[in-house]
Amino acid sequence: MGSKVVVGTETPASGADNTSFIRHANLFILMALELKIDEEITLRQFSAKDAKTIFNLIDRNRAHLSQHNDKTSGKYPTEESVLQSIQNPPNPERLRFGIWVDDAFTGTINLTPFGSGRFEIGYYLGSEFQKRGYMTRSVKRIVEYAFKERDASEVFANVHPNKTASMAVLKKAGFSRIEGRLSEDGDLYYSICK
Ligand SMILES: CC(C)(COP(=O)(O)OP(=O)(O)OC[C@H]1O[C@@H](n2cnc3c(N)ncnc32)[C@H](O)[C@@H]1OP(=O)(O)O)[C@@H](O)C(=O)NCCC(=O)NCCS
Repeated sequence: MGSKVVVGTETPASGADNTSFIRHANLFILMALELKIDEEITLRQFSAKDAKTIFNLIDRNRAHLSQHNDKTSGKYPTEESVLQSIQNPPNPERLRFGIWVDDAFTGTINLTPFGSGRFEIGYYLGSEFQKRGYMTRSVKRIVEYAFKERDASEVFANVHPNKTASMAVLKKAGFSRIEGRLSEDGDLYYSICK
């Protein structure tokens, strides 16, 4: 468990990869966050070199990622659009991780601060990587990271009421549904508190 620091000598592009970097003695120290889950799975913060791999997974999963008003597929029509979203993210505070199983990119999970210690999560897997428990383990690890390292008091998710697999993942990770609380889109509110 823990995070990994990558040291580079090249100047990162402006807003590079949504990672933090520190200039020290003419070295740029890239803080590419990695959260190891176990021998099999590592969450690795997106970097520009992942754009093609991310695009390929989205491109072969467009139907899967368009169910129940899911916007993921529509946001990334091209590899360039994925690269742009990494280099100039609409919300630079959102942490976006690839879910790497051994050397395979299987999906993503993200963590977005909402102020006052509240964080939202969002995620998807390529359809071919479902039903192996990868997402339940990833959600548990992100929640642990948020509580221990980001001083979160609550992590929540908004879920379309027909997303049965997603609700099952959240329940297995310890989330509870808050009855009567719905998003503007009618999504159900799932929450876990410290
Ligand atoms: C949500 C998602 C990540 C879950 O992937 P996963 O963890 O591999 O999910 P699984 O298919 O293993 O299902 C998880 C649980 O839901 C159950 N489940 C799956 N589909 C189900 C269905 N249609 N009805 C009832 N239960 C279902 C599984 O049995 C499993 O429970 P178990 O481990 O106790 O057997 C994946 O389905 C996905 O990427 N979907 C598209 C994007 C998405 O919906 N993202 C969530 C946004 S809120």
